[in-house]
Amino acid sequence: DLVRELRGLFDVEQRLARRLGLQRVIVVPGDADVDETAKKEIARATARFLKEVLREGQVLAVTGGTTLAEVARSLPEESVPLGITVIPGRGGLGEDVELQANTVAAEIARRLRANYRLLHVPDDLPDEAVNSVVSQPQVRELLALIRRADIVLHGVGTAEEMARRRRLGAADVEKLRRLGAVGEAFGYYFDRQGRPVYQTGTFGLRLEDLAGCGQVVIVGGGRSKAEAALAVISTRYQDVLITDEGAALRMLELL
Ligand code: F6P
Repeated sequence: DLVRELRGLFDVEQRLARRLGLQRVIVVPGDADVDETAKKEIARATARFLKEVLREGQVLAVTGGTTLAEVARSLPEESVPLGITVIPGRGGLGEDVELQANTVAAEIARRLRANYRLLHVPDDLPDEAVNSVVSQPQVRELLALIRRADIVLHGVGTAEEMARRRRLGAADVEKLRRLGAVGEAFGYYFDRQGRPVYQTGTFGLRLEDLAGCGQVVIVGGGRSKAEAALAVISTRYQDVLITDEGAALRMLELL
């Protein structure tokens, strides 16, 4: 906290919260683009935030990605169960297993001694198959749980990086560019105004479901993510932003 105070980060947090209409903004020192410790700091701050806000009986929905995987690793291994349920916000999204929401949810649950439920749905299922999976009682129950999550913790990425990571074909990449997609979160790609212009992935949390969830927390840092984070926050669904100095200062420049 001393470092944050000395570097004027409290002031940056307040300015960003005001400009973006967020309940709370947490900015850690550094820039994750150039320094891995900044990402670890973001993860530690997020872990602290979770421990502070989570209450017995609550449902926590999480997405995947390297930042969220680091958040899971930053949580202490509790000796007493926290009495919460952790669930993935979305299905696979075509990513490596370590970065998938299921994996992150399971690791968070292990550390917090929480209950967890996983969403096992292969990517690229034909519609009829998706419909038949969604009609299964266990899946319906899980989807209902996702839609009333008390806390949604999600990562953010640039449209470019996420398209690459998900191995989108040249035609889709071109489409994203044409549609002006700059940011991505939970399978939705957004333009600068926060309009969802393209969607990938199977099922789970839909954008409009966020309105019915409790606190929506966006987590990610690095100067290169500033525009992407602004795009996602422009949807006005987010309540809390946890980021680093690199992204925060760039966001203020862009606003
Ligand atoms: O794919 C899951 C996800 O949360 C995306 O929605 C987001 O854009 C990305 O991961 C962020 O990944 P990272 O933290 O590795 O930059």
